[in-house]
Amino acid sequence: MEFPKLRPRRLRLSENIRRLVRETRLTLDDLIYPIFVRYGENIVEEVPSMPGVYRYSVDKVVDAVKEVRDLGIPAIILFGIPEHKDEVGSDTWSEQGIIQRALRKIKKEVPEMYVITDVCFCEYTTHGHCGVIKGHTVDNDLTLENLKKQVVSHAENGADMVAPSGMMDGMVQAIRSALDSAGYTHIPIMAYSAKFASAFYGPFRDAAESAPAFGDRRSYQMDPANAREALKEVLLDVQEGADIVMVKPALAYLDIIAKVKEATLLPVCAYNVSGEYAMIKAAGKLGWIDEEKVMIETLISIKRAGADMIITYFAKDLAKLINKGLI
Ligand code: PBG
Repeated sequence: MEFPKLRPRRLRLSENIRRLVRETRLTLDDLIYPIFVRYGENIVEEVPSMPGVYRYSVDKVVDAVKEVRDLGIPAIILFGIPEHKDEVGSDTWSEQGIIQRALRKIKKEVPEMYVITDVCFCEYTTHGHCGVIKGHTVDNDLTLENLKKQVVSHAENGADMVAPSGMMDGMVQAIRSALDSAGYTHIPIMAYSAKFASAFYGPFRDAAESAPAFGDRRSYQMDPANAREALKEVLLDVQEGADIVMVKPALAYLDIIAKVKEATLLPVCAYNVSGEYAMIKAAGKLGWIDEEKVMIETLISIKRAGADMIITYFAKDLAKLINKGLI
């Protein structure tokens, strides 16, 4: 059969029929909201390149988490900005570290929130790289030793899940064994498995004060040109015991999300990163695009590509629309 008997438009003629044939839906269950916690007191400051996103001191973060909970978003991922940085990022495993203090406070006041911690060093080191520097680059195996201390400390202070983002070889295996030996066999690992060396992280690095002081991250984060290597990284993390694998950024990497979804049975997370958020906010502010519609279309595309969950700075905006029944 063919046209004029075949007419695909029949299934698009009203909102009701479009609802019936819709293949992809955004729900609150898809969302993870990133939260920046910083040193100091009584601070709620907007990130200039990320309108609507704030950095909170520990005493103020609870209200932010309650807002996320009240919107029905199931999880947050925490990023920390410590008062003191050093060569190795020792704040990341200190009992008085910024994440440790935030975890204790959040878990005490909002215990029902699922709290994921970003596990890295770039926000905590004077040089801004994601591990211990030896010579001109990050030393992989020395960094693994510090990662183990960091994740155990996060678990001790109440993290529900850890998410290593440093792209060190063997990081999932090292973290799994450290958690298991410390009695945290039940804490899952969400691995930033295919994380690309991307210019889309720009606004985040302002927010988290984590830009590298010299060089770049191309000796550990992936070359944006490589798709097969992304699958290799994902499969290695699966072997090492990851519970969830992540692709980051999302938009310029939708093909990678789709391939990863095919290649593994694990849930797939996509990180709709800061630059992707900032571009939409900026063009929306200028009146050049309809911000709300572009946001929805963007998040739908990430889900359609295969993401089971999305880390996004849009989570609260989207949740408000969902709760009003507008999508
Ligand atoms: C590393 C980390 C980064 C992001 C999340 N975790 C920055 C980087 O790799 O330079 C970027 C997230 C974003 O751009 O929204 N701790």
